[in-house]
Amino acid sequence: MDNPTTTRSSVLRNSIILGLFAMATVGMIAITQQGTAERISEAQRRVQLSALNEILPHEQHDNDLLADSFSVDDYPHLRLGAAHDAYRAKRDGKVVAVILPVVAPEGYSGRIDLLVGIYADGSVAGVRAVNHRETPGLGDKIEIGKSQWVLEFKGKSLSMPVPENWAVKKDGGKFDQFTGATITPRAVVKAVYQSLEYFAEHRRSLLQLPAEEPDNGN
Ligand SMILES: Cc1cc2nc3c(=O)[nH]c(=O)nc-3n(C[C@H](O)[C@H](O)[C@H](O)COP(=O)(O)O)c2cc1C
Repeated sequence: MDNPTTTRSSVLRNSIILGLFAMATVGMIAITQQGTAERISEAQRRVQLSALNEILPHEQHDNDLLADSFSVDDYPHLRLGAAHDAYRAKRDGKVVAVILPVVAPEGYSGRIDLLVGIYADGSVAGVRAVNHRETPGLGDKIEIGKSQWVLEFKGKSLSMPVPENWAVKKDGGKFDQFTGATITPRAVVKAVYQSLEYFAEHRRSLLQLPAEEPDNGN
């Protein structure tokens, strides 16, 4: 028969070993998760940065866009559920354009995160999709690396085309859809239009126009 003292100490030893294993495993998982999260956020930061530079190339402003970032949190137009970074492009201290974060919630596979650059005159400087889960070969043509489709927005404004034409051609609008994939471009067209509406409503504060300066539309 086993000595009860020996059995107890054996159980205790095994429990300690098991506990140490569990702690080591949890620690390793936590370290791996943290490393993965850091790599993902670094990759997202790089995508964001290259999108900013593509929308508003250096020659169009003389400030550091990242240093002139500000926070926006708007649901009615931009569909942001939380604060996101937006950016001001300046020349000689004057805001010449802003880049707004915009969500298109009605993508085929959920939300599509966009950056929309808007010049001070309310026309689109450029649009880039920075995060989405649309289907490769179908909805992912919103990526500049896959097709030139997003370039269609450049120069468009709330009045050009007229609001009824801010839709894909299948819905009677001016924007191309993709073959076999209308849902994704439809969602993006709507989101870009809504970002222009947001800009129009908040123009003065976005462009940092002093209250007393007449807003002559330039
Ligand atoms: C597996 C699968 C993936 C699809 N992915 C997309 C997509 O990413 N974007 C998209 O617009 N449509 C996608 N479609 C097609 C849509 O279901 C839909 O048929 C298409 O967008 C046309 O929409 P409409 O009937 O409103 O014109 C996908 C279909 C299937 C079967």
